[in-house]
Parts: sequence; C-alpha cells; structure tokens
Amino acid sequence: MGKNTLIKRMQRFPSIIDLQKRAKKRIPHVAWEYLDCGTGNERAVSRNLEKMAEVTLVPKLLKGDLNPDITTTLFGQSYEAPFGVAPVGLSGLMWPRSECILAETAAKYKIPYSLSTVATQTPETIGPIAGDMGWFQLYPPREVDIRGDLLKRAHDAGFRVLVVTADVPTPSRRERALRAGLVVPLRITPGFVYEALIHPVWTYHTLKCGLPRLRTMEKYAGSKKMRDIANFVGRKIGGTLSWDYLKDLREAWQGPLVLKGVHHPDDAEQAIQIGVDGIQVSNHGARQFDGTPAAIELLPAVVRQVNGRIPILFDSGVRSGLDILRALALGADFVLLGRPFIFGVAALGKYGGDHTVEILTTELKNAMIQLGCGTLEEIKA
Ligand SMILES: Cc1cc2nc3c(=O)[nH]c(=O)nc-3n(C[C@H](O)[C@H](O)[C@H](O)COP(=O)(O)O)c2cc1C
Repeated sequence: MGKNTLIKRMQRFPSIIDLQKRAKKRIPHVAWEYLDCGTGNERAVSRNLEKMAEVTLVPKLLKGDLNPDITTTLFGQSYEAPFGVAPVGLSGLMWPRSECILAETAAKYKIPYSLSTVATQTPETIGPIAGDMGWFQLYPPREVDIRGDLLKRAHDAGFRVLVVTADVPTPSRRERALRAGLVVPLRITPGFVYEALIHPVWTYHTLKCGLPRLRTMEKYAGSKKMRDIANFVGRKIGGTLSWDYLKDLREAWQGPLVLKGVHHPDDAEQAIQIGVDGIQVSNHGARQFDGTPAAIELLPAVVRQVNGRIPILFDSGVRSGLDILRALALGADFVLLGRPFIFGVAALGKYGGDHTVEILTTELKNAMIQLGCGTLEEIKA
C-alpha cells in the first residue's frame, strides 16, 4: 500500500476515538450494542476510562534525541510492541472475518493475537495465519475430554500461550445488548432487515461469509445450528473454574499459561503457587461485574504482590498509546486491548487491524518521548 494512502488514513483517523465513531456508523445497532456494552448501569465502563485518564506521569526532560525502542520479550517470545489483541468472542458479528484480519495484523506487526473459545473462527483456521503470534483463550469446559481436545487443537494449530479466563463465574446480564435484541441465533426481524439495509457494506460482507457461527464449538455440540451451540455453551462451558481445575490445567498445558481476569492480590498469589506463567489484571472491559473498581486501580496492588516473580499483563479501558504507557508505568509488563481492535476492523475492514496498531505505536512512542523514556525499562523506573 502506498505511503500516501497510509498518511491520508492517519489524517482521517488519527485516534481510536475516530475509529470508534466510524465503527458505530458502519455496523448494525445490535452488533454495536454487543461490542460497546458493559453490564448493569455500566458505571464500571466509565470508571475504567475515567480512572485511566486520571493517571498522570511526570516527565524528565533534556534527554536529547530519543528514538524509543518498544520491542519486548514475553514468555521467551520477542514482540515488536508491548501490546496485543485481547480475546473477543463473536467478533465475526461486528465484522465478518475479524479474527482472520486481526491474526494477519498480529503476524505482520509481530504482536500477539488472542483467539477466543467462542470466536467465529476455529484455531485450525487462525493458527496458521497468526503464526507464532497466536494465543488461545480458554473458557473452561466442564468435561475433561472436551477440555483435552480443545487444548490439543489449539496446540496442534500452533498456539503456544494459553489464556484461561477467571472472571466469568457466570454469564453477565448485559442489559444493553438484551434491549438491542441480541439473541442467538440472530432473529431476522423487520427491524434487523432495516438495519441490514442501512449498513450495506457490513451486509455485503456478512452475506459473502454467512451469518456468524461459533465454529470451534460445533464439533462438541454435534450441530452447526447456532441455537444448539448456544445451548451447549451455556450448559457445558464456563462456571467451572476453581483452584483445583487450574491445577489440572497447569498439568495439561505444557506451554505458558496466563490467568486472565485477576482482580485481587490474593488470587494472584494463589495462581503463582499453582505455577501460572502470567497474571492478566483485567475486569473484562467492565462487562461482567458493575461493582468492580477500574482495572487500572487494581493493578498496583497486584504488582506489589507479584513483586516481579512472573510477568503481569493488563487490559480493560486502554484506548491509546498513552494509556499503554500508563499501565506500563504502574507496573504492567504487557498490555492487551479488546474493543479498540474491533473498532478498527469495523471502521476500516481489512485495513482496520493494521491501522489500529499504527495509531497505538505512534502514540506510544510519542508519549514515551514526552515522558523522557527511550526504553520500556525506563518507564518503570
Ligand atoms: C465484545 C467482547 C467480547 C469479549 N469476549 C471475550 C471472550 O470471549 N473471552 C475473554 O476472555 N474475554 C472476552 N472479552 C474481554 C476482552 O478480552 C478484554 O478483557 C476487554 O475487552 C478489555 O477491555 P477493553 O475492551 O476496554 O480493551 C470480550 C470483550 C468484548 C468487548
């Protein structure tokens, strides 16, 4: 792609907020509400963003010509940036082939892409695209055989990091998505037909790819019908995670294991005792529990507890390179983003993943120079 096209795109969409605004216009209401919503009164959604914005950092200046190095190593793998794509279930609803687009971006920019258990593409499809950048996110299946099979599929497809999600002890209500009429399978009502007509690009791509399916789960549900699969997921996946289950998982998965959705330092400690390789401080983008503190408020206590023994990953409420810098300054080793990457793809289709990385990289490097840091280590100092 020409340099001019890239420059023009950056001029039109210089920040994640620009992608968010365009994404909202380009996708049907029900898809937007599913992506954007939190739960309950959605106070935790605003808390995530507001508390993040309140983190201030004092620059140290007169450092001469800084050219920030943002490459990093995590679990023995080098990455070109200290951020990556968090798992987003049903991302094909927001934009068809989102998972493929984002896995391509991850491979190109050498950042991790996390594939959700309830993605619309399988590990077999995404693994080869992501190459060694693929992480697999597990919602714990109740049946040991299904768990074993899922882990084997992820491993055989090339996923080396397993992320197990702790903060979905039960599905959350997500009233805004319910109000918007989100049901599985999607109901083709007159309202939905109208939405499809006024979002012709989304509709064109959706017709080309077919309505979103939870493809990874089809094998276990023994059906391709969304209704059967949704019932199966409700009955057989999630709600199972306990410390004993985590111990079993630790034995079953030989590679790096990350516990995602850690809030409390005590849980971080117990996870370390069990032998996880990374702790991901996250409140699931405030989609599970409206009573949670902002994720960024949870970070310092976990950092103190972990005290450098294993890497700390962070997500929830990150909307810019500056926010990445804030999380790193508070002690995170790596940062993941959920909604922003989907905003990018919904806004710009196949260019959206790349453009999101371009924005975040440019912003992060700029913010590092403003703060007076040439390396990631200096941010923590
Ligand atoms: C639409 C949507 C679907 C998600 N699906 C999953 C999922 O399948 N598994 C998971 O562990 N987290 C899931 N998450 C949570 C994200 O991985 C991540 O924790 C969250 O989006 C971070 O907050 P942010 O959106 O403010 O970046 C989802 C988030 C969104 C917005």
